[in-house]
Order: sequence, then structure tokens, then C-alpha cells
Amino acid sequence: MNHLDELGYLDIPVDPTLDLFEEIKKLKKEKNAILLAHYYQDADIQDVADYIGDSLGLAQKAESTDADMIVFAGVHFMAEVAKILNPSKKVIIPDLKAGCSLADACLPNDFAAFKSKYPNHVVISYINCSAEIKALSDYICTSSSAEHIVNSIPAEQGIIFAPDRNLGAYLIKKLGRDMVLWDGSCIVHEIFSLDKILKLKEENPESKIIAHPECEAQVLEHADYIGSTTALLKYTIENDAQSFIVATETGILHKMQENSPHKTFIPAPPNNACACNDCPFMKLNTLEKIYNAMKYEQPEIILDEELRLKAKLPIDRMLEISLKAGIK
Ligand code: 13P
Ligand code: SF4
Repeated sequence: MNHLDELGYLDIPVDPTLDLFEEIKKLKKEKNAILLAHYYQDADIQDVADYIGDSLGLAQKAESTDADMIVFAGVHFMAEVAKILNPSKKVIIPDLKAGCSLADACLPNDFAAFKSKYPNHVVISYINCSAEIKALSDYICTSSSAEHIVNSIPAEQGIIFAPDRNLGAYLIKKLGRDMVLWDGSCIVHEIFSLDKILKLKEENPESKIIAHPECEAQVLEHADYIGSTTALLKYTIENDAQSFIVATETGILHKMQENSPHKTFIPAPPNNACACNDCPFMKLNTLEKIYNAMKYEQPEIILDEELRLKAKLPIDRMLEISLKAGIK
């Protein structure tokens, strides 16, 4: 029985004797499909993907692909961006419930009311939001493009930045730019314990602390390097340090270790005993769900055309600014 609407994924048993790597590769060929994965996916999903990237890299890849089907192993807003940018492709997501705390904390009616309080401000929204919020925005940014997007706005122009208050506060501090912030946050990047990070640093004094800008200011203040997922990976490859305390989602450690097998990567500890620096939304995806989604071509991202066009405009602005700045 298919409980897709209720469950968010196809509840169809998969033969346990199947080699899912091989089956997914076969389906990719058969359907001319590309499998895009975010760095926060489980290692096995990253290993079978055609492209792994951060939010900006994935949007750029989704826009430029000539595959007939885009299979998105990430979260809902990322698959939605793929559909917005490349609407003639069939965009498949393994689990519709793979959401994001940032997107969930910014609902269109509330945001429209908030926006109306600042009628002369331009709106920059982090890509971690729904198509409806994108449609209410002037510019979209990702963690790797945010500084360039903010800097592209004339100094005297007021800015609303949504929905991540931590990234917003980081940009205000770094760029010396006043912005009105929406009060949203990432449940994963807010979980780190500064005390435990500093204790780890004491025990590993040679380690560099590296952090994603979605982390809280107190963690960022102690970071040796702050950057998007791709920027953090690049830093660990290029920097001479042999050990890194990594304050972001744990999925990225797979590629860090693969690129620098002799270096040590220590996940920054959360402020309790659970594995909370695993994103529960990203981790909903499994090889079985990807296999079923590709085989039965469901769940599919479907978007109203008027909404798609409104949401595309601010993303296009970001892609243009990113292209000029050479950010990938
Ligand atoms: P980036 O992919 O831009 O590094 O953002 C991280 C993230 O939390 C994605 O949801
Ligand atoms: Fe959203 Fe945070 Fe998960 Fe990224 S890591 S998808 S920002 S909840």
C-alpha cells in the first residue's frame, strides 16, 4: 500500500538482496537521471551521488544539468530550488518530510506582515526557506554567497535579512552593515557547547576550530575559520594544521577525511549527550528511499508556475552576483 501523502516517502519494501549501489547506478543510466547530494548526507549516499556540494554548488549544478531527472538527496527547499531553476526536469526527492528548521520558522503570512513594517527595505533571504518566502524576497543568498550579496546593496539602503539570525548577526559584525533580522535558527548549528569545544581545544591545542556561520556568535568568536560547507572542506585541504574541531553537521567529515586521510577531524560536541549535530531532516534520506523514488519517480516536486517565476527572480540575482564573483 502506498502511504506517500502520510509518510512523505514510498513505503514499498526493497528486496534486501539487491546491491543498491548498482541498482541506483542502473536507474541513473536508464532514466538519464543525475543524483545530487548535499555534504550532510550519509557517506553511502555521497558515494553513489554524481555531484556533492553545498547549497550554492547544488543550485548551480541543478540549473545547468541536461539530465532528464534530478534526484535530490538533500532537503525540500534544495529540491524546490532545482525545480525553480530547471522546470522542464522531473525533480524527485526521496522523502518529502526532509525539511529544515529555518524554513519551518518562517511562514509566508508572518513574513509578509514583518516585511510590511519596513516598506523601504530590500529583502535578502537565506536559501533555506520556502518558495513562498523566496517570492517575497529581492535577493537569495547561501552561506558562500551571502557576503557578496549584502555588499552588492548600496550602503544607505535598509536590509531585512531572513530567516537565520545567526548568519545575519555574523554578516552584521563582519561587514559592519546594519540589518533587520528575522528570528530563525538552525537546530543543528545551535546545539554546540562552547564549553566542551574549548575543553577539546585545551586537550588538542594544535587543532583549528572551524565553524559554519549558522553557529551562534559565541562559537564563531572562537573559530579560527568560518565558512560555508564547501569553504570549510577546502580550508581543511589547504591548511597545514593536522587536526580540526569541526562545528557543523557531521556529514561533511566523510569528505574531509577522504581528502585528507592523515588529518584528524573531531566533531564539535553538542550541549547534551545525543547525536544532535546530525541534521534529522538530512538524515531521513536512505539508499532504499532513493532507489524507490527513482524507480517509481515519486515523490516529485511540483510548483505553481506563477510562484516559481516569482521565486526564481531573487535566485537568479544571486546566481549572477556569484558568477561575477567567481564563487562555486
Ligand atoms: P551550506 O550548504 O550553504 O553550507 O549550508 C549549510 C546548511 O545548513 C544547508 O542546509
Ligand atoms: Fe536546515 Fe540546519 Fe538541517 Fe541545514 S542543517 S537543513 S539549516 S536544519
